[in-house]
Amino acid sequence: MTAAGRKAIQPPKDKFWGTITGHALSLKAGRLNYMYTCMKQYGDFLEMFIGKRRTLCVNDPEGIRYVLLDNAKNYPKNTPGYQLVSEVLGMGVFTDVGEDWRKGRRVIQPTFNPSKFDRYLKIVSQECESTLQRMQKELDSSAELNMSKFSTAYPLHVIGRSLFDETLEDSFLLISKNLTHLIDLTEKKMTYFTKFQTPAKKKLKADFDKTLGELDSEVARIIEREKKKEKNVTDNMVHALLESTENFSDEKILSQVKTMIFAGHETTANVLMWSFYFLAMHPEWQEKIFEEGKEKNFEYAGEADLAAFRSLDWFIKETMRMRPPAWSFGRIAIEDDTIHGEKVRKGDLISLSPFLIQHHPDYWERPEEFLPERFQKTPANYTFIPFGLGPRICMGERLAYLEMRVFLLNAVKNFKFSLCEKTAGVKINPQVSLRPNKDIILKVEKR
Ligand code: HEM
Repeated sequence: MTAAGRKAIQPPKDKFWGTITGHALSLKAGRLNYMYTCMKQYGDFLEMFIGKRRTLCVNDPEGIRYVLLDNAKNYPKNTPGYQLVSEVLGMGVFTDVGEDWRKGRRVIQPTFNPSKFDRYLKIVSQECESTLQRMQKELDSSAELNMSKFSTAYPLHVIGRSLFDETLEDSFLLISKNLTHLIDLTEKKMTYFTKFQTPAKKKLKADFDKTLGELDSEVARIIEREKKKEKNVTDNMVHALLESTENFSDEKILSQVKTMIFAGHETTANVLMWSFYFLAMHPEWQEKIFEEGKEKNFEYAGEADLAAFRSLDWFIKETMRMRPPAWSFGRIAIEDDTIHGEKVRKGDLISLSPFLIQHHPDYWERPEEFLPERFQKTPANYTFIPFGLGPRICMGERLAYLEMRVFLLNAVKNFKFSLCEKTAGVKINPQVSLRPNKDIILKVEKR
């Protein structure tokens, strides 16, 4: 239990309709903006309603630790939000709860063992090299590059090779396109607070079903191909699932693979896009990263050497502080409880937000400014949680750091990035993840 004595504050409900809608219309108008404004105005422990459904917004370190770590068993993931995500990904390690989740996590976990990271470093380095070559090739005919495109393709190729030992170029681009479209449609579904059928809803459902069908058959086709490969020749995530003694059904394997493709590239791609944007916005940080790289001859034999590029490390962390891809996620109370002395009723939703705690003015000085040097000091406990916390913490954190460090270091080694007109006025587009509202197109020069 957390220290008692605090009551959750309820911001004013929606104008005119509030008795019916609660806060739903304000959230629908812009979830992130509304939640951030409320935190600034009313504090970090709030009560909101979507219709009659009560949500506690817990955005202080002690409350976050309690829900995600100390009493995590009372707060599983089967929220309406995760149910919508599961309509795309199926029930895999990201969305499962209870024994199904434990089994999936146990089988997938060994693919992230430290012993695998020499292999991942090789994959990451090769994919980084090919991406830099592609960038160079495009630069022969244009001075501007779409860094959103490269930021998406690179982690997609990495996850393709770590999952299947193949680049699967065509399939993966198709899968990525369909996944992104489905996530956009899911975001739209999230804003439908009523059950009434409308022509717009029917159209959305038809689009959703068609895209999901295409995605599932493509992923199933790749899994079938993988099944035919000789055993013991490959040592990848899909083989771990196929050969597990848990005897996963085809449907479960499909969900696990879709989950890993989605979780393994969308988030990393988002951080890379924002990183390139911030590099262009802050040329002094490009130079710091470049100079430190030069001092060490841009050489690294493994993860530890990479982590020792301190300016790069602070830069990536500050990017994830300002733009955490998983900016908000939820839990549901399965038993009555109390948080900070406030009664939690069975069925209440709990909203947690890496974005909000990472902008909390009590823990972050000048929270809206991009100041990587702040990471010289370790942040206060539970105030920097881009990868979540507790038993459901991200499985891919190490792989993500490896990918981001290798790509950004080598990008800065080879190129200089600056803003151009097309990237003026880039804003956050908070959906399921935290993308920029338009492609990050930058002026790029060879060093
Ligand atoms: C910068 C990159 C990434 C960020 C910021 C990120 C963030 C997160 C967060 C916040 C969660 C927890 C969500 C919750 O508690 O509700 C999560 C879960 C997860 N992530 Fe990541 N992630 C990243 C990269 C990756 C990569 C590269 C992989 C795999 C290759 C991955 C696989 C997963 C999986 C499987 C889960 C579900 C774990 C579980 O529920 O047991 N992530 N991620």
